[in-house]
Amino acid sequence: MATVIHLRAETKPLEHRSCLTPTTAKALVEAGYDVRVERSPQSIFDDKEFEDAGIPLVPTGSWRDAPSDHVIVGLKELPEDNFDLIHEHIQFAHVFKQQTGYRETLARYKNCLYDLEFLNDENGRRVAAFGYYAGFAGAALALEIWSWQATHPNGEGYPAVKPYPNEAALISHVKGSIAAAKEANGGKEPRVVIIGALGRCGSGSVDLCRKVGLGAESILEWDMAETAKGGPFEEITQSDIFINCIYLMGKIPPFVTRDSINADKNRKLRLICDVACDPNSPFNPVPVYDIWTTFEKPTVDVTGIESGPPVSVISIDHLPTLLPRESSESFSGQLLPSLKALKDRQTARVWADAKKLFEEKKAELE
Ligand SMILES: NC(=O)c1ccc[n+]([C@@H]2O[C@H](COP(=O)([O-])OP(=O)(O)OC[C@H]3O[C@@H](n4cnc5c(N)ncnc54)[C@H](O)[C@@H]3O)[C@@H](O)[C@H]2O)c1
Repeated sequence: MATVIHLRAETKPLEHRSCLTPTTAKALVEAGYDVRVERSPQSIFDDKEFEDAGIPLVPTGSWRDAPSDHVIVGLKELPEDNFDLIHEHIQFAHVFKQQTGYRETLARYKNCLYDLEFLNDENGRRVAAFGYYAGFAGAALALEIWSWQATHPNGEGYPAVKPYPNEAALISHVKGSIAAAKEANGGKEPRVVIIGALGRCGSGSVDLCRKVGLGAESILEWDMAETAKGGPFEEITQSDIFINCIYLMGKIPPFVTRDSINADKNRKLRLICDVACDPNSPFNPVPVYDIWTTFEKPTVDVTGIESGPPVSVISIDHLPTLLPRESSESFSGQLLPSLKALKDRQTARVWADAKKLFEEKKAELE
């Protein structure tokens, strides 16, 4: 009997991404799986796209009544409730690091929770992550808002952001905004410094900057070698935009501070996009703000700036949502080889390790 994979419809508000796409669902069917997809009013993929790929549709929310041996696949948290979860679930649950409410949520999983954040390859690296499109979207928003600042010198705030139907629409929009900004400020192209440029998020940021047409001299690509001298860095206050994409692993000297901003009398910096966004970490290398921003209100101003124009920070922790189609396609494609091993999950290392982790976390509850 084929292993049944049941894609549940996302219920988290504004979540348009999907763990399976018509392309990856079809690939799983071709690999011998029985895939069913719930009708979803909020997915970026129309029901018809799955239907056209030959995938049977099932009612929204029907996973609850599915036979107990069906594997339930989703992306984000389930809505709060208290009924027992009897299936094996594959999703991000945000409960393994003792996040708020983790006890009650984790206790509901009676079978197995394979948490997508902890599915690792043999080198301990995530098998699937959204990083590339987080960096891509973060750089797009940064350029967009920098351009807005240039064309709205009276300080009018940037309006709420909505997801884009696809990458081409986003790029065309950002290109138009940069062109308008250049016209308003005498043809000046923004200089962008990206730290963590060799990583997943960082490479996404670099690619976006290239795709919207910034010249190589306008994109500073920094990683470990460049920050080894220790911050704060004048190269940041001398750039128009700073994008932080590092994976923070411990205490490091800050990259930029209020003092370093105030000390640079010829400061160019107007905008920081903190893709890594660890405002609650004592080691935050961008200690100039302390909240997460949202698509509704994408920036927060750095306080304590003594002279010159304000410096704004974007600290959105769900940036890939800006491009739900491409980010889902990328994530699901990375996950596909592991999903193809699901029928052998008792022995396949990636799933066996994830199950072991779940059992350890459950044991810690007792
Ligand atoms: N805001 C969002 O929506 C969003 C989405 C996905 C990931 N993230 C976060 O982005 C961060 C990066 O994720 P990733 O997948 O790109 O990680 P990654 O491991 O692929 O890349 C991190 C890069 O940072 C570099 N780096 C680490 N410390 C550095 C330092 N001190 N100086 C210079 N470079 C340094 C590494 O060499 C590496 O190239 C993570 O914290 C992740 O949680 C945010």
